Amino acid sequence: MSDLRDDLSRQLTTARDRTLRLTDHDEPELVRQHSPLMSPLVWDLAHIGQQEDLWLLRHGDAARPGLLPPAVEALYDAFTQPRAVRNRLPLLPPVEARAFCLDVRGRVLDRLDRLGDADDPFDFAMVVSHEQQHDETMLQALQLRSGPPLLGAGTPVPPGRPGPAGTSVLVPGGPFVLGVDAAEEPFSLDNERPAHTVDVPAFRIGRVPVTNAEYAAFVTAGGYRTPRWWSERGWEHRQAAALERPRFWGPDGTRTRFGIVEELPPDEPVQHVTFFEAEAYAAWSGARLPTEAEWEKAAVWDPATGRRRRFPWGSAEPTPSLVNLGGSALRPAPVGAYPAGASAYGVEQLMGDVWEWTSSPFRPWPGFRPMLYATYSAPFFDGDYRVLRGGSWAAAASILRPSFRNWDHPIRRQIFSGIRLAWDVETTDA
Ligand SMILES: [Fe+2]
Repeated sequence: MSDLRDDLSRQLTTARDRTLRLTDHDEPELVRQHSPLMSPLVWDLAHIGQQEDLWLLRHGDAARPGLLPPAVEALYDAFTQPRAVRNRLPLLPPVEARAFCLDVRGRVLDRLDRLGDADDPFDFAMVVSHEQQHDETMLQALQLRSGPPLLGAGTPVPPGRPGPAGTSVLVPGGPFVLGVDAAEEPFSLDNERPAHTVDVPAFRIGRVPVTNAEYAAFVTAGGYRTPRWWSERGWEHRQAAALERPRFWGPDGTRTRFGIVEELPPDEPVQHVTFFEAEAYAAWSGARLPTEAEWEKAAVWDPATGRRRRFPWGSAEPTPSLVNLGGSALRPAPVGAYPAGASAYGVEQLMGDVWEWTSSPFRPWPGFRPMLYATYSAPFFDGDYRVLRGGSWAAAASILRPSFRNWDHPIRRQIFSGIRLAWDVETTDA
């Protein structure tokens, strides 16, 4: 248990260091609403502390008094306070928000110290996941921010290699195990469970995500003016929102990234596209988006052993030579940058770089049981959401698994979302 306690303590500290770095700005930056889609950063900061107080100090019982007065705590309820109006709430100023988070954390570390062998540490991991997910959300807010750059250009990523772009691999048909159980992945969230066998017909899948250069060809070919590539809803949205190109692309071959205007890197995975744009691009390419089951099979199934791998490349923990995660790069790595991160089928960059839109609506796996944070997944099942897989460059390695499921509205693109193509395979009766 002491190893596990140390690990959880390290994970809590790593997440907090990241949160504090992302909110290490002057008060006007922190209280500013950069977009109606996102909260002011100071809201995320205190909400992180409030959720930690709720789940780790009160076991999720909101009726028990927390460290904040009830009227203040209510300001940080994500379900009752719409993002667009959070800047008008009487939020804790940054100094008080930091002090509150520190107070909660001290008590949480005391509780962690007392954790015994009979205690389930899942709630600690869940809270780490919550904080790291908000850190990615804060990066989305910072990408939407206007003004001189605050974050710099990001840390280096490995060079790409040209071979894999535009190529695909065959995943033969047959059953595989979709999802995970607590026994193998104790910190998996409710929507990833339980593991169950699914038969997936043969398909092809892109070896790497779709690049900026490939997507630019769709834009140049008039893809945004041709209804036949779009679903009916997608075309309606394209017109209503006047979409012309991915978000943050200029009309002149540039893009804006955290306040820096730069040439569009041709070999980097395209990001900031809606589900509808991903679907239209796929149709124009003579392809489609993968289903969740296809994506996960391509990522983890090892046909040689008939078992899941823990990660696409095997069981080794993620490292910067395998995958672009953690947020410091501030961008996806070029395609072909991680040959050592390939899955058993030879599919690359499944984890990290960009969240990949799938064609699947967000639904529970059979046998789903809500976790302690019972409204994490369940209220969103069967809503107007599509699942994204794999994590972006901004996701934290410590909380990401190939079974991790993210979901969003099909019109959203402030997220670090990209595209991987899939194709049906003609099968002949044997
Ligand atoms: Fe939250």
